Amino acid sequence: MRQPHGGKLINRILDKDKRKLIKDKIFLFKSIMLNKRQISDLEMIAIGAFSPLEGFMNKEDYENVLYNMRLANGLVWPIPITLPVNKDEAKRFEKGEDIALLDEFGTVLGVLHLDEIYQYDKELEAEKVYKTKDSKHPGVNILYSQGDVLLSGKISLLEKPKHTEFTNYYLTPEETRKIFNEKGWNTIVGFQTRNPIHRAHEYIQKCALEIFDGLFLHPIVGETKSDDIPADIRMKCYEVLIENYYPKNRVILAINPAYMRYAGPREAIFHAIIRKNYGCTHFIVGRDHAGVGNYYGPYDAQQIFKKFKEEEIGITPLFFENAFYCKKCGGMASSKTCPHSEDEKIIFSGTKVRQMLQDEKIPPLEFTRPEIAKILIKGMKQKWTEYNI
Ligand code: ADX
Repeated sequence: MRQPHGGKLINRILDKDKRKLIKDKIFLFKSIMLNKRQISDLEMIAIGAFSPLEGFMNKEDYENVLYNMRLANGLVWPIPITLPVNKDEAKRFEKGEDIALLDEFGTVLGVLHLDEIYQYDKELEAEKVYKTKDSKHPGVNILYSQGDVLLSGKISLLEKPKHTEFTNYYLTPEETRKIFNEKGWNTIVGFQTRNPIHRAHEYIQKCALEIFDGLFLHPIVGETKSDDIPADIRMKCYEVLIENYYPKNRVILAINPAYMRYAGPREAIFHAIIRKNYGCTHFIVGRDHAGVGNYYGPYDAQQIFKKFKEEEIGITPLFFENAFYCKKCGGMASSKTCPHSEDEKIIFSGTKVRQMLQDEKIPPLEFTRPEIAKILIKGMKQKWTEYNI
């Protein structure tokens, strides 16, 4: 199994005694209410999924990440992990103090040991991280609407954010590493996803399973954009698929509490590093990984890996070309394995599938397993009624 990024798995969860010490004096602390994305970052840092980060980034790390995709110490890191607040709020705080981090109900989740308050340039961050300043890009849109000042410092976690759903699929990097060890797996392939599983996903996962010891399915359950399929429906799809089509002893399904940034290439490296921290040795990067709209080329997220030596990232990427069903081959394929013309390929756009599901039509078996289509139709019908779509 690979070492965590930076060599050590970070654990910023306070033990019982330290927690009590802080809780006893927490009423003296100033506080900030975190939104869902900030809570997700807090949790990912605390459980070691973002190792070697121990807190929200200071200016030196932040700028190095923007310009060089590295932390100030040279370690590869492509995405800023920051804590934005608005200017007036920032005036309340002083360097060196401890700040209570609350959820929307006022529960104290953690403490920020504040070491720097700094300004940043949102357009520069948009350009560097998302390769666009367009506010229609979902990641850029969030960036533009967040606070203008960043707070940095190590964090300590007092309470794990409550997960009401999928609790039986919640595993920390420490736990997955233990499971992989117990299973005797030497090679573990991580799979990132934010979409309901379809045949192309299944194909690339199974190609990997032909070669490596185990598959770690790690769907994002943190915030995704509003027209993505909700996590509860996606998780049901995974359960059913594993039950019916996968060798259960070779697959671990766990939730990834992170949220989607839609930063395409940079996010592909970020996703790989996170899975390395969970104990994976390999990571699948297919077509338009973590992309949105037409902001990135279909293979930009693969090409970006060339900027680094493999040992600098420390997890081996597995690149897959666009996979499709070919009528002549009579199975899933890609341009690497199939010589036939476009007419033979069954390719569906997300929009077309969405329309079919909305019309309660089951997309063809070549695109999705019927069990999955049924879950999507049922689940989305409920959501469409709920949201009045
Ligand atoms: S993502 O935002 O998490 O990347 P998605 O859940 O659709 O979106 O993709 C999960 C993984 O499967 C990514 O590595 C993506 O590149 C890959 N992928 C999705 N569809 C295909 C396809 N048709 N062919 C090859 N790879 C694909």
